[in-house]
Amino acid sequence: MAREKIIGSGPPAGEDERKKRDWALRPRLLSEVIGQRRVAERLQIAVNAAKKLKEPLGHILFDGPPGLGKTTFATVLPNELGTSVQMTSGPALSKPADLLPFLTNLEEGGILFIDEIHRMPRVVEEFIYPAMEDFRIDIILGEGMSARTISMNLKRFTLIGATTRSGMLTSPMRDRFKMHEHLDFYSVEELAQIVTINAKKLDLPLSPAAAQELARRSRGTPRIANSRLYWVRSYHAGQPHLADGPVTDDIARAALDMQEVDREGLDKQDRKYLEILIDVFGGGPTGGEAIGATMNIAADTLSDEVEPYLLREQYIVRSPRGRIATPKAFALLGRGLPKPKADPEGNLFE
Ligand SMILES: Nc1ncnc2c1ncn2[C@@H]1O[C@H](COP(=O)(O)OP(=O)(O)O)[C@@H](O)[C@H]1O
Ligand SMILES: [Mg+2]
Repeated sequence: MAREKIIGSGPPAGEDERKKRDWALRPRLLSEVIGQRRVAERLQIAVNAAKKLKEPLGHILFDGPPGLGKTTFATVLPNELGTSVQMTSGPALSKPADLLPFLTNLEEGGILFIDEIHRMPRVVEEFIYPAMEDFRIDIILGEGMSARTISMNLKRFTLIGATTRSGMLTSPMRDRFKMHEHLDFYSVEELAQIVTINAKKLDLPLSPAAAQELARRSRGTPRIANSRLYWVRSYHAGQPHLADGPVTDDIARAALDMQEVDREGLDKQDRKYLEILIDVFGGGPTGGEAIGATMNIAADTLSDEVEPYLLREQYIVRSPRGRIATPKAFALLGRGLPKPKADPEGNLFE
């Protein structure tokens, strides 16, 4: 069953490789979190207040693309509060009864983390409302004529939700969170700091220039920076003539080139997306569904994982009629510039 009670540190048993890496390199305290300064400051104040007032922390919703620190914040907060966290996810909760063991296991001030909360079915969502508002649940016993509802009081707790798509949450659900924190992409300097700290944790001698190179080529995303760091470490250790010296920027560059991460930090999938948009659809406007079908990738994956970074770096813009490649994307692929179809806001020229 997808339930785990975690106090303090330690990876959940039997998880896949990516999750193990995430755990190994995850900050433990707010002060160790790099970047997202405003978010961290607000959370620090909320934590201090909860401790001082002896109240549970208000419910918090984190949203943003994958790999930017939503789960990290959800594991840092219980450490800060000295409380336990139980972790589950929207898809694992198919009916209200699936939520019961979590709710009844809560300690006073404890945390329940629901990942991908936008994928929680409506019946579960409605079941959780009174728990969030009044720390109470209504359980229906029996069926038909003899059915009756009993109310059960819960310990006061904090719900932390994480989602890559806050737009898919219903507004009653969204309104029940006291804090909404949006996580944005990281700057190169912040990623360089993260990579440097994590190289130390891995006992890898990484030059500052190599850290910069990795940071520039990690799509603004700490999880990607970490996985590229692991690759650079293998590249370095796996070749006897390199393994004695430090990892220089030349070594980092060669390792990333070998992984087909280009000099702008875009990977194969990003470039494939742009190639299809430009070469197949003439630069758009094209719907995400059509691009996804041509790439053989779910449109959801594109809009969660690929497009946010391409949008933020202005390789594409969104318009009411679909995605449009910008001149920057044409230049990246070395294609001749077409007549512009939209201004940078995505307004189409007719
Ligand atoms: N602010 C941060 N500072 C340092 N490392 C971070 C930060 N945010 C994320 N990471 C690293 O990136 C990995 C992925 O972050 P995670 O919280 O799992 O992302 P999400 O839940 O948003 O997909 C973490 O294991 C951690 O090593
Ligand atoms: Mg996560």
